[in-house]
Amino acid sequence: MRAVVLERQGGPEALVVHELPSPTAGEGQVLVSVRAAGVNFLEVLVRQGMYPQPPELPWVPGLEVAGLTESGRRVLGLVRATGGGYAEVAAVDEDWLFDLPPDASFEEGAAFLMAFLTAWLPLTRQAPVRHGMRLLVTAAAGAVGSAAVQVGRALGAEVVAAAGSEEKLALPRSLGAVEAVTYDAIEELGQVDVVLDPVGGPLLAGALRLLRPLGAAVAVGYAGGPWEPVSPQQLVGRNVGLHGFYLGRLMQREPAIVRDAARDLLRLWAQGIVRPVVGSTYPLDQAGEAHRLIEERRSTGKVVLVL
Ligand SMILES: NC(=O)c1ccc[n+]([C@@H]2O[C@H](COP(=O)([O-])OP(=O)(O)OC[C@H]3O[C@@H](n4cnc5c(N)ncnc54)[C@H](OP(=O)(O)O)[C@@H]3O)[C@@H](O)[C@H]2O)c1
Repeated sequence: MRAVVLERQGGPEALVVHELPSPTAGEGQVLVSVRAAGVNFLEVLVRQGMYPQPPELPWVPGLEVAGLTESGRRVLGLVRATGGGYAEVAAVDEDWLFDLPPDASFEEGAAFLMAFLTAWLPLTRQAPVRHGMRLLVTAAAGAVGSAAVQVGRALGAEVVAAAGSEEKLALPRSLGAVEAVTYDAIEELGQVDVVLDPVGGPLLAGALRLLRPLGAAVAVGYAGGPWEPVSPQQLVGRNVGLHGFYLGRLMQREPAIVRDAARDLLRLWAQGIVRPVVGSTYPLDQAGEAHRLIEERRSTGKVVLVL
């Protein structure tokens, strides 16, 4: 089978297609003929040598796929942290395999789970968003961001959005954000009850200042650079909270919670309440270009490899 292999850390050109033996299904696993594979920021960080717990190289990246099982079931699934998604065939744990909604494409299937779980779990479990609350989503045109805008709306929030450029504001607006601004104008959004932040860097500390008393922020990523230290003093003094969310560890430690959340989200998708945004697609042999788009901050929605 053809698969994208990362043999060494480096630029997008470090991702090379090789002919590899097909994986065999381990206990509790199912072989999936991959039709689409989601590209995640994590894989970009691993390639760049910036991920704190990197897998051993050579590595076939790819943590989520959609495709067909040997019995012809249309599925979407999360691949183990050991990777293997950027390939014609992937071995996926049965526990992490779900039915693709009937009218959904494989591209949408590969764009769904990571982004929507990373929005849904924090916004329902850590900083629960209730009807009428005001939710701020940063990087709101990104994969997690575009999911979080929809999840916030589905939970009854008034969603406000921030992104890195004017061009990126159209997407969160089209998904129902009532206001959308670039980061330099974030203060204009006024106070909010909850912040979901995939950007990190200095932006998170700035967004904390927008929280109303009893509000909370959830840090889910550091696409914009390492987090600045936040002292409990800043939180106590303002009566606000700060949470951290990491899906991979939660899948290991609380798999039932994550699986239930995936089922809830698939129901919302089937009802037409949320829908993944596929921003760009690339063939497998252009995985490097897909990474370049994300790395250069030019992507919107989810970037997906199609096979
Ligand atoms: N905690 C978890 O379990 C979990 C799960 C999935 C993803 N994540 C993390 O969440 C973040 C977003 O992931 P994603 O897949 O949704 O990616 P993404 O949003 O599609 O891409 C990252 C976004 O971050 C923003 N950004 C800000 N500074 C950037 C920079 N210097 N370089 C590149 N992008 C920059 C960009 O939006 P603007 O231009 O609008 O700022 C960009 O669109 C990543 O940090 C990822 O690792 C965490």
